[in-house]
Amino acid sequence: MAYNLLKGKKGIIFGALDEKSIAWRTALRCHEESAQLVLTNAPVALRMGEINKLAEEVKAPVIGADVTSMEDLKKLFEESMKHFGGGIDFVLHSIGMSLNVRKGKSYTEIDYEWNKKTLDISAMSLHRVLRTAWDMDALNEGASVVALTYIAAQRVFPDYNEMADAKALLESVARSFGYNYGMKKKVRVNTVSQSPTRTTAGSGVKGFDGFITYAEKMSPLGNASADECADYCVTLFSDLTKMVTMQNLFHDGGFSSIGVTEAVINQMEK
Ligand code: NAI
Repeated sequence: MAYNLLKGKKGIIFGALDEKSIAWRTALRCHEESAQLVLTNAPVALRMGEINKLAEEVKAPVIGADVTSMEDLKKLFEESMKHFGGGIDFVLHSIGMSLNVRKGKSYTEIDYEWNKKTLDISAMSLHRVLRTAWDMDALNEGASVVALTYIAAQRVFPDYNEMADAKALLESVARSFGYNYGMKKKVRVNTVSQSPTRTTAGSGVKGFDGFITYAEKMSPLGNASADECADYCVTLFSDLTKMVTMQNLFHDGGFSSIGVTEAVINQMEK
């Protein structure tokens, strides 16, 4: 069901790789709610070609940008503003990549050069995006920026590896830039801490099947799906949440407030 919540709003969506991506699901929901969109991803991801299907569906141009390149980001914002004929109302940062996880290094033996790249792609990229918009005055008054994160920023999930540190940094950037952009232009910056979700990035975590089943049993409402995450992001982009900023918002079916559930106790007693 659509409510026209984003009528007249213009947004940039980072990170739609394939139809399972949280960014993909969010682009579809934003379109349903009448937003105008620009889609972006790293040039290497665009070569897969999948995103063109989404672009057609949501009637959006695709502009390539490696999120670690200030030059790419400047071009992306310039072209987006030209396309929209003005400023931007919302941004979804749905980007994550761990080189050490990909290359099979455990947390205690990470390669620091790869770690720098992981932190740059997965966390400081939010700073780069906000800084680019700040320098160009690209965001409209009251605009909303959302980045996706995971509860490994607060608690230990061993196989999440260096991404736990990346998410902690990402959440901190959201708060710190949220302060500055809020003071300057009432721009809101929040992170949404999502349940484990079967996507390309999600499934890269070792032992993901056990992980997702455990989270399901530990959440009174069960795991939140990518489509449900998209719904939540739509509310954050809308004017209904105008006073929400600098928050890490759990979208996890209650997982973050649970000590233990009966389902897990029963499993232990077997
Ligand atoms: P995904 O693999 O579909 O999306 C990750 C995206 O990051 C891809 O589109 C990829 O091309 C993009 N990316 C990687 N390097 C980039 C670069 N240098 N420049 C621009 N884009 C780049 O996976 P998913 O799950 O949709 O991930 C989206 C976000 O949600 C990530 O931040 C992830 O950490 C977060 N998240 C995912 C959960 C899960 O279980 N899937 C749970 C909680 C948060």
